[in-house]
Amino acid sequence: MYIPIKLTDNIFYVGVNDRRTALFENLLPIEKGVAYNSYLIKDEKVALIDTVHINHVDKFLKKIETIIGNRPIDYLIINHVEPDHAGSIKIISKLYPNIKFVGNKKTVGMIEGYFGIKENVEEVHDAQTLKLGQTNLQFFTIPMVHWPESMVTYNKDEKILFSSDAFGTFGTLDGGIFDDEMDFLMFEEEMRRYYSNIVGKYGSPVQKAFEKLSTIEIKMVASSHGPILRNHITDVLSWYNKWSLQETEKGVVIAYASMYGNTEDMAETIARKLAEDGIKHIKIYDVSKTHASYIISDIFKYKGLILGSPTYSNELHPNMESLVSRLSHIGIKNHYIGIFGSCTWAGAAVRKLKEFAAKVECELVGEPVEEKQALKEEKYHACRNLASAMAKRLQS
Ligand code: FEO
Repeated sequence: MYIPIKLTDNIFYVGVNDRRTALFENLLPIEKGVAYNSYLIKDEKVALIDTVHINHVDKFLKKIETIIGNRPIDYLIINHVEPDHAGSIKIISKLYPNIKFVGNKKTVGMIEGYFGIKENVEEVHDAQTLKLGQTNLQFFTIPMVHWPESMVTYNKDEKILFSSDAFGTFGTLDGGIFDDEMDFLMFEEEMRRYYSNIVGKYGSPVQKAFEKLSTIEIKMVASSHGPILRNHITDVLSWYNKWSLQETEKGVVIAYASMYGNTEDMAETIARKLAEDGIKHIKIYDVSKTHASYIISDIFKYKGLILGSPTYSNELHPNMESLVSRLSHIGIKNHYIGIFGSCTWAGAAVRKLKEFAAKVECELVGEPVEEKQALKEEKYHACRNLASAMAKRLQS
C-alpha cells in the first residue's frame, strides 16, 4: 500500500513518527514528537539498518513488507542498542529466523542482555566492510555518541552515512523526509536540545568521531532521528562541532527559582541592566516552570549563565538543585557564571551555587549577591553591578 520512500534506487526509508509519547526517555518533553528512522537496503542480500521503538512495530513491518514482500531480511545492522531503535529486534528475529545480527563487540553483550540473542551474531570491527551485492557497507564505531556500542554504517557506493543518534533531532517528519523538502533550519533549536541533553556530556567522543570519519566523503546523512540531510550537511556538522566544543555566543541565560517572587525580582533587575549594557540575547527561565532540557539547550548556546535561588530548608530550591546537578553531570564548561539568591533567616543557596561554579570549568563573574527577604536598595544595586560585570566580561 505504501509508496516506498527512496534514498536511492535500492535504499528505502522505513522509519516511523511518534506524536504520542510525552517524554523521551521518560524524561525529556517532546512536544514536536520524534521520528525513529530505519533504512532498508534491497540488493542480492537485504539489510535493515536499525529498527524502531516497539510501540510502532506494526507500521514498521508493513513498510518493510511493501518493499520486500515475502523476501527474507538477511542482515539486521545494529548501529545502536538503545530501545528507541532496537526495540523491535526481538520481533524481527522471530519473523526472520535466519537473519544475521551485525554489530560490534559491545553490541553483542547488549543484545544478549536485552533480547536474549546469542545466535547468528556477526561481530564487526572498525572499518570492516559487508557486501550485499552491488552495495558495500562499512562500519565505524563512535563510542559514547551516544552509548559505548554506538556505531555508524557507511554506504561506500552512494556515500551515505547512516549516522545513528549523531546529527539526530527531536521533531517528527511531517511529510518531508529530506532536508530539502522542508524548512530545515526550523530544526536547529530542537537539534540543539536533543544534542545538549542526550549527547552533551560526550563532547570529546563527538570530536573523536569527527576525526575518525574525516576522510570519508559524505553526500547524505541518514540519522536515526529527524530529517535526512542532503543540503544542510555542512551546517549540521558545524553546529555539532560548535556544540561539542561548547563554543557559545554572546548572550546570557538567567535561570532562577523563586517561591514568592523575590528572587525573580533580582533576576529581572539583572536582566534589565544587561540590556542597558548592550546584551541583546537574554533568556530568563523560571526553573519551576520551564523543563530543564530547554534551559540546558540555551546554556549550550550562550556564554553567560546567571543562576539564582532562594534557600530552601538550608539547601538550594529543589528545582535549581536539579538543574545544577544536570549541568554538573553534563560537564558544562567555557561559561561565565554569575550568582544571586535570597533567604529569609539563614542563607545557603548562594554558597551552594558558588560550590557548583567552583566544580565546573567555568569562570565566576562579578560579586555573588544574596538578599534577605525582599529586594532592597543596596542589593538592587549589587544585582545591577553583577549584570554590569557579566556584560563587560562578555564584551571583552
Ligand atoms: Fe536514539 Fe541513544 O537512542
